Formats: sequence, structure tokens, C-alpha cells
Amino acid sequence: MSANLNNSKILNKLDNILIIGSGGRENSLAWIIEKNELVKKIYIIPGNAGSEKIKKCKRINLDIYDKKKLINKLQFLDINLIVIGPEDPLSKGLGDYLRDNDFNVFGPGADGAKLESSKSWAKEFMNEGNIPTAKFWKVNSIDKAKEIIFSSPDPLVVKADGLASGKGVFIPNSKDECLEATKSILNGKFGDAGQIVVLEEKIQGPEVSVFAICDGKRYLLLPTAQDHKRLNENDEGPNTGGMGAYSPTPLITKSYLERIKKEIIQPTIDGLINKNIEYRGVLYFGLMITQSGPKVIEYNCRFGDPECQTIMPLMDKDFVTFLQKCAMGKLIGNEEIKISNKVSGCVIATSRGYPNDYKTGFKIKFGETDNEDLQIFDSGTSLNKNNETVTSGGRVLSIVCQDSDFDKVFEKAYQNLSKIDFEGIFYRKDIGHQVRTKYKKER
Ligand code: AMP
Ligand code: GLY
Repeated sequence: MSANLNNSKILNKLDNILIIGSGGRENSLAWIIEKNELVKKIYIIPGNAGSEKIKKCKRINLDIYDKKKLINKLQFLDINLIVIGPEDPLSKGLGDYLRDNDFNVFGPGADGAKLESSKSWAKEFMNEGNIPTAKFWKVNSIDKAKEIIFSSPDPLVVKADGLASGKGVFIPNSKDECLEATKSILNGKFGDAGQIVVLEEKIQGPEVSVFAICDGKRYLLLPTAQDHKRLNENDEGPNTGGMGAYSPTPLITKSYLERIKKEIIQPTIDGLINKNIEYRGVLYFGLMITQSGPKVIEYNCRFGDPECQTIMPLMDKDFVTFLQKCAMGKLIGNEEIKISNKVSGCVIATSRGYPNDYKTGFKIKFGETDNEDLQIFDSGTSLNKNNETVTSGGRVLSIVCQDSDFDKVFEKAYQNLSKIDFEGIFYRKDIGHQVRTKYKKER
């Protein structure tokens, strides 16, 4: 069991919130949390150049792994709720440590984060709970891998077991490529994250993202989304951290969602409870909708990026109270999260060269953008010595719009995006093609 979970302070105060992370995801969380009038101050460690543009938000420059300093600072700031964004600190047990020190934390302990930090652990977990997923083999030697790859009648996918910043999955085109990818991982391409390789049956179908916020026993669902992982239009090119997203996705009807709940979500919650893992945070189900039904491609222990930026503007100002209830183990389970009846879309502006090498440090011209139902969340930006916002990452800005239909959403997103500029700006023009009339007609 994650340590000291029962010890959470019984607080309803939401004066001071802390968010850990530095991307567009964390800025979108700050943006929705800020809307609640009970919230007085949002601290973000470390945030980025866009964070302090969000009302009530203040960045703190502190090493989150300097635990003593961190606790002293958070006690001094009288933090009521901590939201941990990225998987890395979660898998290293930051959630446990903060809970041990009596903070309310939205984010699982290292035990629950294993769903993301060890793919073989997650696959075994799914097998134990009869949760539909692709068949798999766990290997730690090249000989064993060879045997499996060359005796398999079907194509396989190769995955490094541990966290590899989204780069640890290979979809080979031949058995030789499959073996090469396995060798490179086992020979240290991803360091310790590649001591074990998971070989997986290659399955097919559209991918969707489903998010459940959990309090350890119960859960509530957020709107579904579809991410665009490939770099180029027509979903071609290398995998990236996500070039855009839209929400909700019509691929998941109400009745299909019931099926996902029954076959995947509830068995996952039950499996965690059976293992004495009190999971307080968001469970991100990366699903493939196959001909034989939904299958789990991966679990993540955090909000997806750019799905989070896409979904948060559909939330109500009370959203933060649900995060707090999860952190305190106090969901009832039948609460209704208020969700806008609009739809939302997000386009990511990247630095040319991403997801491989790219240059940073270019000044960003934001132009005259609208502000109604439009958010620009900084994803990878920093301030230069003249206090100007410059690019500092591969994924630079998340441009998010809401409207009554997806055609309007993306028209507005691209219109606003055309006013934004920085050297080497690159973005896909077909984000949301699954739900835009223009692309439906072309098909
Ligand atoms: P992951 O990091 O596990 O989400 O994998 C990255 C991407 O690889 C997924 O979004 C899928 O597009 C693809 N992928 C992963 N596992 C499989 C699989 N078993 N079959 C087909 N494609 C997969
Ligand atoms: N959108 C994919 C991810 O966050 O991993």
C-alpha cells in the first residue's frame, strides 16, 4: 500500500495549490484550477514562460528531488493540494513522499505508477485481471527474443520495458528489423529502461484516450479524446509525443463506453485494489478499438499531453474540487463532473526537426489572437535575458479552441495559429481530420 494514505488531512481548503511539471499539460491544469474562486494562489514547479500569464500562478524554481527543501517550502506556503503532472516523479515515488509528509496529492504512488513505468508489469497485471490487450512475451536475452520473433506467425511490436520518454516503442516492418530493435534496446539504447523488452502482437484499429480520475476505490470519467501521434499529415512519419488532439471522439459512443467500463476500467480499478494499491490520480487508458473490441495499448499514470490541454477547457470551475476529492480518497463515485456541451481541439506548434534534433531560443511572435474560447498554452518555452518568450522545446505551443462543432474549432485554431510565428514553426494542418467535414468528403 502507498504509505500513509489514510493520514491525509481532512481539509476543504483550496487556497494554495501546487502543480509539478513544465509543459502545456500543467499550464492547462493551472488554467482550469484558477477558475475556482476558492483558489487564491497556484504555484508551479518549474512551469515555463507561459505559466505566469495564467492568473494566480507563480513559478517556483526548486529541485523537486531535494526532498527536504521541497517539504520546507510547501509547508511554508501552506499548500492544500498538489497535482503531479509527469510520470517521472510519480514513478520515483514523489507522491508517496509528499503524502508521508501529510500533503494531499493527486498522483499515484510509485506502486500505481508502475502501470506506466514497467510495460511488462502492466501486461502481467492485465493478464491477471483478464483485461483485453495484445498478446505479449517478456524477454531479457537476444536468444530468447530470436526464438519468439522467428517462430511468431504474426508481426510483433518491440517495447522497452521502462520509461523512455515516449521513444521506446518500435513498429518493425520485418522480422530482421524486429530483432535489430530488440538488440538495440537490450544492448543499452535506453539504459536501465531496456533491461527487459516486451514483444507484443501487432494489433490494428483507431486509438483513443480515456481518462478516469480515481480516489483509490472509485473513479469518474473525463471526456474521451483522440491524439495524433505521427509527425506528418495523413498520420505518417515518426511517432511524436502528440501533434494535436480533439475531444470528445465520436468513435466512442455511450454504449461502447459502457463496454470499456465493464471490460477495462472497472477490472483495472479492481486489480489495483486487489494488489493493495490505493491509486489516487488519473488513469490514462490508451486504447485501440479493434474488430474484436477495445484493447489496452498502454496505461499511463498521468494526463495525456496534448489531450489534457484539449479537455481542460471543457471542464467547469469545480474541476479542482474533484482533484481534491481524489487526492483525499473521498469520491462518492456518482458525482457528475460538469462538462461543456462544446467540442474542443488542439494543434501543437513544434520546432522544425522535432522529434529528432531541433534548434531552440527563437523569439515567439504571438500576434493578435482572439481570446474567446481560445487558449494558447505554452508547452516548451522560456524567457531570454530580455524577458522575451523564446522556444525551448520540440513542442512549443498548444493552440486550443472550443466551438459547437469541430469544423469551427479547427477553422478558428488554424486562423489564430497563422498569426503566431517563430523560426522553424511546424504544425500539422489536418488535426481532427477524423471529425472535419473537409476530410470526410475527401475520403
Ligand atoms: P505506446 O508508447 O505503448 O503507446 O506505443 C506507442 C504507439 O505504438 C501506440 O500509440 C501505437 O500506435 C503503437 N503500438 C503500441 N503497441 C502496439 C501494438 N501492440 N500493436 C500495434 N501498434 C502498437
Ligand atoms: N498523448 C500521448 C501521451 O501523453 O503519452
